[in-house]
Amino acid sequence: MLPPHNFVLSVVILLELICKSVSTSCNSTESLPNPIATTYPNETTGTINGTHAIIPIDLSAARSLIPPQYGINLYELYALQPDFPRNKYPLIVQSVLDHDVGVGTSLRIPDFTRSAITLPFVDLLHDGRTSFRLLHSIVMSDNPLAVEGAALYGPPQPLVGRFDPPCEAYMYETSERTAASSVTFAAYPLHDDVHSKRPLVHTRFKPCRAQPYSLALYENILNQVLTNNGTLCDNFVTLFDTSISTGDFSPVPVEGRVVLNRPVYPTDSVFEGVFGIKADFAFVERNYIPCSQFKSVS
Ligand SMILES: *[C@@H]1O[C@H](CO)[C@@H](O)[C@H](O)[C@H]1NC(C)=O
Ligand SMILES: *[C@@H]1O[C@H](CO)[C@@H](O)[C@H](O)[C@H]1NC(C)=O
Ligand SMILES: *[C@@H]1O[C@H](CO)[C@@H](O)[C@H](O)[C@H]1NC(C)=O
Ligand SMILES: *[C@@H]1O[C@H](CO)[C@@H](O)[C@H](O)[C@H]1NC(C)=O
Repeated sequence: MLPPHNFVLSVVILLELICKSVSTSCNSTESLPNPIATTYPNETTGTINGTHAIIPIDLSAARSLIPPQYGINLYELYALQPDFPRNKYPLIVQSVLDHDVGVGTSLRIPDFTRSAITLPFVDLLHDGRTSFRLLHSIVMSDNPLAVEGAALYGPPQPLVGRFDPPCEAYMYETSERTAASSVTFAAYPLHDDVHSKRPLVHTRFKPCRAQPYSLALYENILNQVLTNNGTLCDNFVTLFDTSISTGDFSPVPVEGRVVLNRPVYPTDSVFEGVFGIKADFAFVERNYIPCSQFKSVS
């Protein structure tokens, strides 16, 4: 449960930042509305529509991205995905539109887009049981509310970028939109031309028949508590079972290419044959919770 003082803090911060966000007018016309705003009237809820990719990087590369004092709960990864290659580690690249975000039904903020690179299964509290997701880097659209809210978590600070498309979850590559259409999404440095040759993040995905990872793996990872530096935590609960993620809107397996350039990743990298899911999820977010509160007690 969210302690009351944190709830008040979150609302005060939200209110302050909303005042600064009046000039930001992004409001997606394509994403379905938040289906849970009335279910959690006193909490921050919204939807994230976009793509979630799992890039198997070398375990040694992951070890150099995760501070040495933290372990990696690999047994939990293997329990969820027994055939995950033993010398690899799942780097997570999410490119999403945050849509219809607010507290209850009265307080809404403008939509914004972001690309985040996170490192899951981190044993932050050395209890060998609670897996956290460490934020490696994040690019966000120029929405003061979102950017300042993210900055409160400490380093790494969010990079402000320009997105193509600017206010949708992804763009169809051709004007004809079919179930088999490829989609793209890119983040550029704020002051570069959007058609600059050097995006910070660029993804291109095509729906595929199947991808190697279980939905349980995605669900577990997307529900690991997020933190930047282990002090304050973001309990971001991603719901896989609401009306916007089931039936006709069930997650779609995708395969494609992910480009990550410095400074969002230590080296300019192109990953081919990356699998992921294209999906829309409702979320409940509890911000600015001391990470120590998540320690497992036996
Ligand atoms: C997600 O966004 C895409 C692109 O903007 C849109 O076509 C799609 O309908 C959205 N999905 C949902 C479930 O709202
Ligand atoms: C939300 O807060 C109001 C006012 O404090 C309270 O009356 C209500 O019971 C709360 N609702 C839930 C679902 O917690
Ligand atoms: C976005 O547009 C929808 C439909 O016009 C509207 O209901 C909603 O209040 C808008 N949201 C924001 C944050 O402006
Ligand atoms: C994390 O960042 C916050 C905010 O900048 C800072 O107060 C805190 O001391 C940092 N924690 C660590 C472990 O560096």
